[in-house]
Amino acid sequence: MEKEISQAVIGRLPRYFRFLGELKDQGVERISSQELSRLMHVTASQIRQDFNHFGGFGQQGYGYNVEYLYTAIGRILGLDRKHHLIIIGAGNLGQALANYMNFERRGFLFTGIFDINEALHGRRIRGIQVRPMEEMQDFIRENDIDIAVLTIPKDGAVATAEKLVEAGIKAIWNFAHVDLDVPDDVQVENVHLSDSLFRLSYMANRYEKQKKAAPRDDR
Ligand code: NAI
Repeated sequence: MEKEISQAVIGRLPRYFRFLGELKDQGVERISSQELSRLMHVTASQIRQDFNHFGGFGQQGYGYNVEYLYTAIGRILGLDRKHHLIIIGAGNLGQALANYMNFERRGFLFTGIFDINEALHGRRIRGIQVRPMEEMQDFIRENDIDIAVLTIPKDGAVATAEKLVEAGIKAIWNFAHVDLDVPDDVQVENVHLSDSLFRLSYMANRYEKQKKAAPRDDR
């Protein structure tokens, strides 16, 4: 059985995966933890510790085999298989996600888009038809959908999540600004771009304050 990996380590895996993918594309076959550390601005000991959680992947004096590590981390992240997704909410955000081709390259296939607005029904976004909400549950069951993306306002999100769960969805990528109440076997990843923006604002603010507080060297 796979060992339980901490959320902190899992949180770092997508970044490792991205960097290793770029190295692989550049034809790099192996890399030491020191080199990877320099590239990623993470300490070499952090990298070694993280990789030790799932068997190390490295050899003394050889470093890490990039292709092997990339594949292994991809497998841990569930990227070695295809996922079928639907988007609920064909507005600005839903359309932007549907139009982003890179998800597909990683095996995340947008299969259907649903919206409450009749004026959008039948319209196609990158070839995917926008359908009425009434068709959502049957569509999920008939098309083996495993991930639902919620890009609707918070008012309708809780009720919609209930319908998704009822139809068998086990993973929700939630962009609505509300906490969803779902059973334990349903995974929810909340995404709030504003949190990231606020963190940036905090850091920029702190930097400005530190600069002002630092003694000037022209005195
Ligand atoms: P939008 O107004 O362009 O699109 C929302 C779409 O959802 C519309 O097409 C509307 O007809 C549909 N809709 C509304 N209620 C529905 C329901 N109950 N069932 C099905 N479809 C429904 O809005 P936009 O810009 O695409 O944003 C969507 C939501 O995502 C907003 O509530 C916004 O607050 C949130 N958002 C979250 C972000 C995040 O980082 N978490 C970033 C940007 C937006």
